[in-house]
Amino acid sequence: MSSQWWREAAIYQVYPRSFQDSNGDGEGDLNGVISRLGYLKELGIDAIWLSPFYTSPNNDGGYDVADPRDVDPRFGNLGDAINLIERAHEIGLKIIVDIVPNHFSTEHRWFKEALASKPGSQARSRFHFYDGRGEHGEIPPNNWCSIFGGPAWTRIRESDGSEGQWYLHLFDSTQADLNWENPEVWSDFESTLRFWLDKGVDGFRIDVAHGLAKDEILKDHRDPEGLTRALRLDVSDMAREERESLLSDVPFFDREGVHEIYRRWRKIFDSYPGERMSVAEAWVHPSSRAVRYVRSDELHQIFNFDFLIAEWDAEFLKSAIDKTLAEVAEVSAPATWVLCNHDSPRLATRLGGGELGRKKARAMALLTHALPGGIYIFQGEELGLEDVVLPDSARQDPVFFRTQGIDKGRDGARVPIPWQANKKNYGFSTGNPWLPMPEDWNELSVQSQSDATSHLELYRESIRMRRDFRVESGTESLNWLKSPKGFLAFTRGNNFALFANTTDHETLILLKDVMSGQSDGWTVVLSSSNGTTLSAGTLKVPPHTTIWLRGTLK
Ligand code: GLC
Repeated sequence: MSSQWWREAAIYQVYPRSFQDSNGDGEGDLNGVISRLGYLKELGIDAIWLSPFYTSPNNDGGYDVADPRDVDPRFGNLGDAINLIERAHEIGLKIIVDIVPNHFSTEHRWFKEALASKPGSQARSRFHFYDGRGEHGEIPPNNWCSIFGGPAWTRIRESDGSEGQWYLHLFDSTQADLNWENPEVWSDFESTLRFWLDKGVDGFRIDVAHGLAKDEILKDHRDPEGLTRALRLDVSDMAREERESLLSDVPFFDREGVHEIYRRWRKIFDSYPGERMSVAEAWVHPSSRAVRYVRSDELHQIFNFDFLIAEWDAEFLKSAIDKTLAEVAEVSAPATWVLCNHDSPRLATRLGGGELGRKKARAMALLTHALPGGIYIFQGEELGLEDVVLPDSARQDPVFFRTQGIDKGRDGARVPIPWQANKKNYGFSTGNPWLPMPEDWNELSVQSQSDATSHLELYRESIRMRRDFRVESGTESLNWLKSPKGFLAFTRGNNFALFANTTDHETLILLKDVMSGQSDGWTVVLSSSNGTTLSAGTLKVPPHTTIWLRGTLK
């Protein structure tokens, strides 16, 4: 693969617990992923991003890491991880792993040492331990709320049994925030990066990359609950100005201090042979600040989450595309496009669900796959899976518990993958899946989607074709074409054109009108739904459909 392979790569997110179980315990594992490498190769992706598989009590799907340099037994062992990296490399797939630098599990050796040590000790200074306020220290050091609900502080019992200090956790109480002012934290993470780089990984996805540095940790926030709501995706009940004002200055996110960390990390990545890369999960506001993470001496990519919340709406999509491309161009970084991940509703569900939701999801995918930059695909997105409505008794996400069930959490998008039709658990596991699988997924299984019109086949084709045309387009920009309301239409390079109809009515496009006289010789190469035709220069675009054309602009 050419240098800077990540700039326009298709990267597939594997959530190991839900991908493929190889030992019948109902949870996916690394050997399961190895057994499905052929499927991923055939899908045409460039790299796999593996969500955490490290030693963890798994209170937050492994994002509560107890040992970042070992594998949790539920996923296998270190030998399996090395084997997975090597097998993937043999067939030309890169491996990106997660790194979780904002917090450690309270099961981590460091946290246990901190509990056993005295206030003010070196062991405590690896985290944010403070005395409480009030006469008996019964009030938390500040009023911040956890992003998962409830307070952001938990009080410990000192080793003599007395009520003791408080520690900060922006997420679950079993995820203690690390103190990045402590050089030991820096060196430990550098050891972890080197550990996995030495094992051959091609990159890292950096969890909560914007959270590491904190300001004014002993100061109350003017509206901590409002802030937590503003930070969530579902903020329909908050006025826009209020949300923007709250997000413009979050004392624990997007502080200047994070950039020094990434400049150091970049030097480590660059000191290794091959093109090792990094992608940041950083929700920052306004989003124009995000590009500061991908300045040339910092990280390589940052997830652009505009599409994660986007409706199938031409105006919104067009402005999000323009904004993103203009922002990343400032720092010469590539754009990324993310339609869903393990933290968000599945794409087809977000777009309304059912046949129509899936139709829009296909159209949205074809639009996204044609944009300049990298794409991220969440496992099962390529099958058109929808969120599963789970009984509350099956839910495992700490968000569900910490909000007393008001927020149902993210489990619905994490249900295991259906591989085969009419087989126990669709071939995912011979045991009991850790989240129940629905009864009506036969049609959505990988096995059932071999025909040319399936969701899966559309993904395979678009991933294959985008690889071809990116070679020749040689450009990271696009040119908008004049098009009817509710449409997106653009060309990239001289040989590619796209038309997306977000309306619910069929529309005829006269190519000569939109392509300034260069309308001859174009053919439809891919369409997200049936019924598309191109004859005598007239393109018939069905509702909620994206079409790719090949031809030549003179
Ligand atoms: C990131 C992860 C999410 C996790 C959180 C806390 O946002 O994507 O799954 O719960 O960080 O680690």
